[in-house]
Amino acid sequence: MTQHLAAPAPGTAHTPSTPTDWWRDAVIYQVYPRSFADGDGDGMGDLAGVRARLPYLRDLGVDAVWLSPFYASPQADAGYDVADYRAIDPMFGTLLDADGLIRDAHELGLRVITDVVPNHSSDQHEWFKRALAEGPGSALRDRYHFRPGKGTDGQLPPNDWESVFGGPAWTRTTDPDGTPGDWYLHLFAPEQPDLNWENAAVTDEFRSILRFWLDMGVDGFRIDVAHGLVKAEGLPDLGTHDQLKLLGNDVMPFFDQDGVHDIYRAWRKILDEYPGERIGVAEAWTPTVERTANYVRPDELHQAFNFQYLGTYWDATALREVIDSSLAAMRPVGAPTTWVLSNHDVTRHATRFANPPGLGTQIRTPGDRELGLRRARAATLLMLALPGSAYVYQGEELGLPDVTDLPDEVRQDPSFFRAAGQDGFRDGCRVPIPWTSTGPSYGFGTGGSWLPQPATWGGLSVEAQTGDPTSTLELYRSALAVRREHPGLGAGTDVSWLPDTGEGVLAFAREGFVCTANTTGAPVRIEAPGTLLLSSSEVTLAEDGAVLPADTTAWWSV
Ligand code: NOJ
Repeated sequence: MTQHLAAPAPGTAHTPSTPTDWWRDAVIYQVYPRSFADGDGDGMGDLAGVRARLPYLRDLGVDAVWLSPFYASPQADAGYDVADYRAIDPMFGTLLDADGLIRDAHELGLRVITDVVPNHSSDQHEWFKRALAEGPGSALRDRYHFRPGKGTDGQLPPNDWESVFGGPAWTRTTDPDGTPGDWYLHLFAPEQPDLNWENAAVTDEFRSILRFWLDMGVDGFRIDVAHGLVKAEGLPDLGTHDQLKLLGNDVMPFFDQDGVHDIYRAWRKILDEYPGERIGVAEAWTPTVERTANYVRPDELHQAFNFQYLGTYWDATALREVIDSSLAAMRPVGAPTTWVLSNHDVTRHATRFANPPGLGTQIRTPGDRELGLRRARAATLLMLALPGSAYVYQGEELGLPDVTDLPDEVRQDPSFFRAAGQDGFRDGCRVPIPWTSTGPSYGFGTGGSWLPQPATWGGLSVEAQTGDPTSTLELYRSALAVRREHPGLGAGTDVSWLPDTGEGVLAFAREGFVCTANTTGAPVRIEAPGTLLLSSSEVTLAEDGAVLPADTTAWWSV
């Protein structure tokens, strides 16, 4: 049987973190509100659903909850197209629900991080609607990027930039008199016009939006497309049609421009005005971890997602390299490293690791599910043993795979429609999570679920896994409990690699603790470094050592 510590009794898992630097080693749970829990039975998750399930998160043992957007939005990109940054979409509830959620979370000792989406608004935002209505030359148009087209008749886009979701990054407008007009920039869907951060009204508005939510009591912000706000002077052509391949791998005239850092210096001052260490977390896709570190310099944000880690396969050499380079990159700026394996934009790691390496983070084949789950469990224990802060995406604690066979007609990801089905794989990780073994939508709600759940998901539900010491849910509960009992686990900025561990085996020491991970497909014999605390599958102990099964991580106290 898998070695597990007993999970703490409900209500005892959370001792509020000390206010000092709580974020440096926090485990932060991402809630994707559409798919977490449905409080009103309309098939779509909502804030009432999240609120009712907060005790589950407290008992799981996480420190904070990050909620993807729940603001008023036409949902062209699942809420990342915001029409009103200070209002809740009726589909998710009301401001009163948000207030109640924040209060309840705090009472349970959980911090709350909300998403802020500053790179673009919805095309249904009042500003954009008025800018269109007032026509060319209106001061309101300067809050976005409107430009005349090229070609004899302005019929060509102003430059060669492409949307991340496929197709040109520009859409032509129609003037109020009905004639074809200027074009506007949208790095994502046409319903997401990019804001112009050179315009003072934009900078002022977002400072005010931050204050609005800080006054509501949120503990921080996850900043969407944090690397995209500033565009290179003159919006120069990129000069290549292979743009999608370059994303995240190269400096682009619209991503990771140095000017973005002034924005975050100003935001940091606002965060620091509030008590209780409110934080900013950058979603910044940059070419290197060193450039990611720029976002978390002492006078900027607190954390940045480690997408290099997320993109690393279950392979000892690659993992060791990315762990070392991530820690080394953050050390000079004094920021904690973050670790993340899954989120709402990528194929869940239980499915990534079920497939062969080299397929990237958008995969549509289920692969070998059993192998994927075994590796996913091992990868989680490895991640939670690293110094810094870790992100957990809802449902990964249940070992959920991606749903790779969703019929095209239920898909909602805008990239699916823009890239002729070549992309748009993100719906597979957004399927509502199962809470109960039976019943409509497995306890997600009483009214079905906006994406269909596989018939096997009752067996993966919270109910089915609770109390089963071999389940992935109990593994997460135990791991988070151990992490709390050994505060040294997430602390610091360093790991000491143990020598001579053999090919495919990673072993490192932290204070009073050793983590060993066998990434190979065969069992390996190791010297037992101490007392076994927890392992992702059953470790055999003998007088002269221990056997780590294939794809297994074990934690030892020393
Ligand atoms: C990143 C978000 O995580 C993703 O879901 C969204 O589509 C884009 N930013 C655009 O806002």
